[in-house]
Amino acid sequence: MNQVIVAKHLKRQFAVKNEEGRNETLTVLNDFNLSVNEGEFLTVLGPSGCGKSTFLNILAGLDKQTSGQIKVEGALLNGVNRNIGVVFQGYALFPWRSVLDNVAAGLEIRGVKKKKRKEIAENYLDRVGLKKFALRYPHELSGGMRQRVAIARALAYNPAILLMDEPFAALDAQTREMLQLELLRIWEVEKKTVLFVTHSIDEAIFLGDRVAVMTSRPAKVKEIVPITLPRNRTVDMRNANEFSEIRKYLWSLIKDEVVNSLQ
Ligand SMILES: Nc1ncnc2c1ncn2[C@@H]1O[C@H](COP(=O)(O)OP(=O)(O)OP(=O)(O)O)[C@@H](O)[C@H]1O
Ligand SMILES: [Mg+2]
Repeated sequence: MNQVIVAKHLKRQFAVKNEEGRNETLTVLNDFNLSVNEGEFLTVLGPSGCGKSTFLNILAGLDKQTSGQIKVEGALLNGVNRNIGVVFQGYALFPWRSVLDNVAAGLEIRGVKKKKRKEIAENYLDRVGLKKFALRYPHELSGGMRQRVAIARALAYNPAILLMDEPFAALDAQTREMLQLELLRIWEVEKKTVLFVTHSIDEAIFLGDRVAVMTSRPAKVKEIVPITLPRNRTVDMRNANEFSEIRKYLWSLIKDEVVNSLQ
């Protein structure tokens, strides 16, 4: 199996101030190892503050590990990789651009012609239910709508590897379910490699081929749980016995880590 992302012995430390104002070193990732297979949908669960966004930021080329190495498609990662697209935690839209131009932003970088950009951007806006809002600006949208624009932008860019950091966390339950299905439909057709961080155990199971459970900080991968539910996933699978068995097991893995992270 072809591994498109291989992270080995990653360490990330930050210089921070403690309560007394003294300088301290915060170790976020330590001996962190994770490999992602080509075309797989890998979901990541871990307690708040353990280092999930830190790992994704490093993969996106926006931050650098203190030590250890990452290979992407066989080459050492060094800065921003154009085959990687990101949906950040929070919306990160360009406030001065219309919704349509936000979605088309990545295509501009790729050198896609204007007419084609518009066509692609409109298609993805339609898929996230925002076709009518193409000419509005981000401040005119609700939080959930902004998040959908950010998702449409990442999908329109069409990267081989898609990093998603809690992309659905700000959405209402119904929109979230709809977008989970839409994302799976797109993934099934385009066979991207997806690395998807979530706090929702159900979401991690419903979407994932495998779920990587992280420990509390300094984070390591505690266990990787394969999800044996068949594809294509359907909403009623959430009520299946197999689903609740996996849910129980994942909760047993993550419970102690959440407790640790609160101490
Ligand atoms: N630039 C930075 N400088 C100092 N500390 C940082 C920096 N970025 C992150 N941290 C710290 O690293 C730890 C991990 O942060 P990170 O954002 O990766 O967590 P997370 O797992 O994504 O959490 P959440 O689930 O709440 O989003 C936190 O304790 C955070 O305070
Ligand atoms: Mg985070």
